[in-house]
Amino acid sequence: MSKKRAVIIGATGAAGQNIVEFTAKHPWFEIGCLSASERSHMKTYREATQAAPFFRSMPPEEVMKMKVVGADHVDPRDYDVAFSALPSEVAKVQEAKFAEHIPVISTASAYRYEPDTPVLLPDVNPSHTAMIPLQREKRGWNGYVIPGPNCTTVGLVTTLKPLMDAYGVNILSMVSMQSLSGAGEKGLRADSEYRLNAVKNVIPLIEGEEGKVVKETNKILGSMVNGKLIDAEINVHATCTRVDVEIGHTEAVHLGLKEQASIDDVRDKLNGYKSEAQELELPSAAEQPIIVLEDDMPQPKRHGEYPQMVTLVGRLRGNKLWENGVSYVLTSDNLEKGAGGGAVLSAEYLLVKGLL
Ligand SMILES: NC(=O)c1ccc[n+]([C@@H]2O[C@H](COP(=O)([O-])OP(=O)(O)OC[C@H]3O[C@@H](n4cnc5c(N)ncnc54)[C@H](OP(=O)(O)O)[C@@H]3O)[C@@H](O)[C@H]2O)c1
Repeated sequence: MSKKRAVIIGATGAAGQNIVEFTAKHPWFEIGCLSASERSHMKTYREATQAAPFFRSMPPEEVMKMKVVGADHVDPRDYDVAFSALPSEVAKVQEAKFAEHIPVISTASAYRYEPDTPVLLPDVNPSHTAMIPLQREKRGWNGYVIPGPNCTTVGLVTTLKPLMDAYGVNILSMVSMQSLSGAGEKGLRADSEYRLNAVKNVIPLIEGEEGKVVKETNKILGSMVNGKLIDAEINVHATCTRVDVEIGHTEAVHLGLKEQASIDDVRDKLNGYKSEAQELELPSAAEQPIIVLEDDMPQPKRHGEYPQMVTLVGRLRGNKLWENGVSYVLTSDNLEKGAGGGAVLSAEYLLVKGLL
């Protein structure tokens, strides 16, 4: 199979750099173009990323030397697929321009809440890709837009999926402790006001985030019935905070299950969960998507001891808040699983399914 040529738009930001890391040595994709704003136009990728580098491992020299192209100068027809890591308001226009011609896999929220658009996480809701023909027909696009979830929703829905399947979930309360890189370039650039304010601090508000978690959780865990997506009806309450951690979102989750379950059974369901992404052995899929740990784990600082695409769970116990109460703490890598790695995993799934 010849490699698919990818254009990465928003390639210089936090999520975009992560997509570049995942695609630079990918067996199925090759980087055809790195695109960003006019600020970065015609700079080398090294120059355009040097103020806020997020790389875990540096991309190869030939990628660092590539010239970044402003998004308005790119012709989508020169590529097979676009990965988008643009700010949402820019994504609304740019992603439509690309989707007219080619599939767009996005980390942005611009299209997440549209009724003809799935929010895809291949290890949770691969069946939602059935909406793609509908979207194409309605919008008259040759391509389509497939966004991934918000980086906070990713870990939450991954852990909810096996519990929904086994017992059903009635109600949930979640408090997030989200890392600075989740805020993108402004969260990690050393001289940014946002970052300086967050040092040794907890910011108890992330504008717009809680509503996203509520909507996306119910959309992603919804079911396809006769070609239509019916949202799950989980009563979700979210409090999202920013903490002084570089990478990795932590969430304290309290659930009320529909059916009674012992904590040992819940642990087995989480540890034993496998999805179509594992069955298909997609290159970026974790072998075991959820790992339950004991004692004082999970911790974002130690997430790197495990595969990055894994959701770690700990502090698993019952709660007396609700009937059939279960509580746990999770960590999920907001850049790998929550953005770049997640987008590339979606592209792998779409390719295997003949949709790309
Ligand atoms: N950070 C995370 O953990 C995370 C996780 C999941 C989803 N997301 C989503 O991913 C998207 C990107 O977030 P981020 O954190 O990577 O943000 P970021 O670090 O601020 O990066 C933004 C990117 O968009 C480009 N850009 C900005 N304005 C543009 C314009 N008018 N035209 C073309 N390109 C433009 C920037 O290029 P320049 O460098 O040239 O300015 C940069 O490449 C957002 O929608 C965010 O919600 C982020």
